[in-house]
Amino acid sequence: MASENNQFHELIPLSIPHIAGNEWKYVKDCLDTGWVSSVGSYVNQFEEDFANVTETSHAVACVNGTAALHTALITCGVNPGDQVLVSNLTFIASANSISHAGATPIFIDAEPDYWQINPTEAENYLRNECQMVNGESIHRSSGQRVKAIMPVHILGNPVDMDPILTLAKEFNLTVIEDATESLGATYKGKPVGSLGDMAAFSFNGNKLISTGGGGMITTNNPALAQRAKHLTTTAKIEPIEFIHDEIGYNYRLVNLLAAVGVAQLEQLPAFLAKKQEITSWYAELLGDHPGIQLMPEPAYGTSAKWLYTIRLRNNHWKPIYEFLAGKNIQTRPLWQPMHESPAYSQLNNRNCPISELLQTHCLSIPCSVNLTKSQAEHVATQLKLALTQVK
Ligand SMILES: Cc1ncc(COP(=O)(O)O)c(C=O)c1O
Repeated sequence: MASENNQFHELIPLSIPHIAGNEWKYVKDCLDTGWVSSVGSYVNQFEEDFANVTETSHAVACVNGTAALHTALITCGVNPGDQVLVSNLTFIASANSISHAGATPIFIDAEPDYWQINPTEAENYLRNECQMVNGESIHRSSGQRVKAIMPVHILGNPVDMDPILTLAKEFNLTVIEDATESLGATYKGKPVGSLGDMAAFSFNGNKLISTGGGGMITTNNPALAQRAKHLTTTAKIEPIEFIHDEIGYNYRLVNLLAAVGVAQLEQLPAFLAKKQEITSWYAELLGDHPGIQLMPEPAYGTSAKWLYTIRLRNNHWKPIYEFLAGKNIQTRPLWQPMHESPAYSQLNNRNCPISELLQTHCLSIPCSVNLTKSQAEHVATQLKLALTQVK
């Protein structure tokens, strides 16, 4: 017991960056050459490499994932006063990006199997509360246009996209994937980020690849890519006299951070393999526990297993979280569902019982790329102990 305590006196973090490749070399190159800001070869290379990895024709680098989503929305023609359907069970940035565009997020409940946006709920909203007028879907009671749908691929798992794409076609919606959490996941053989009109990724501190902060837009539409690049670079059309043809944004990722991104992306296959290994460790260590449902992986795709999350069959997450925190093991519940967020309390939000249920019982557990097998064993042992000791 004493040796176990010594071995694990340090915090086992939930999900931290793994800097193990060419990051120092590429950053040094930026510093040595002075190319640190928003122009430079690493930004272009990061975009090119990222488009290759996501099998898209274009990628546009941004300062963060929220800015990438915001840009994608306005690039796709989401205007103030529009509605955008979005996953209810997500980090608030998905909804905030819609608000930043002046539109209203309509929160769609999760499905119980893989915890992603439920296409049937989206369909019910469109069929029962909206009507088609001149080829546009109009929300009956508010008169607002439903312009887009933003499926969020949460925790590393892909959304079941075919029903979403079918709905989008029927109701004339633009599809903007929030793929910030699921780089490397696939749907029916295609990478997430390549499935809708546009997509956004994040490289913040806990994502699978990190640039400290950063984001990327992907698309297969050259006109949309060009417009996104224009908007993220202050809509400048003439560099000598500084002529801008509209009010743009200063959203471009800087070369210094893109250098980190290029190095991180080189390691993506190894990171994904490690996430798979961590998944198999937890399956072996926790799979037969009657109180734990392992993180589900949909048959329609492959999961990036970004944030390994279990569902406690009989327990609320909080006492387990507190017990593990007392053992220096960092865990995290799912986000407060958007329909319950004080930030969105002014909206006439719909019931989302599945999100509430999942938020009550799900807990993300340590799964950093540098997690060791003995740390995973320690997490599993303490988790099982928690389940016997707390109610
Ligand atoms: C689902 C989701 N959407 C959007 C974002 C926003 O990304 P960023 O933090 O890079 O702005 C994140 C990550 O934080 C996220 O998890």
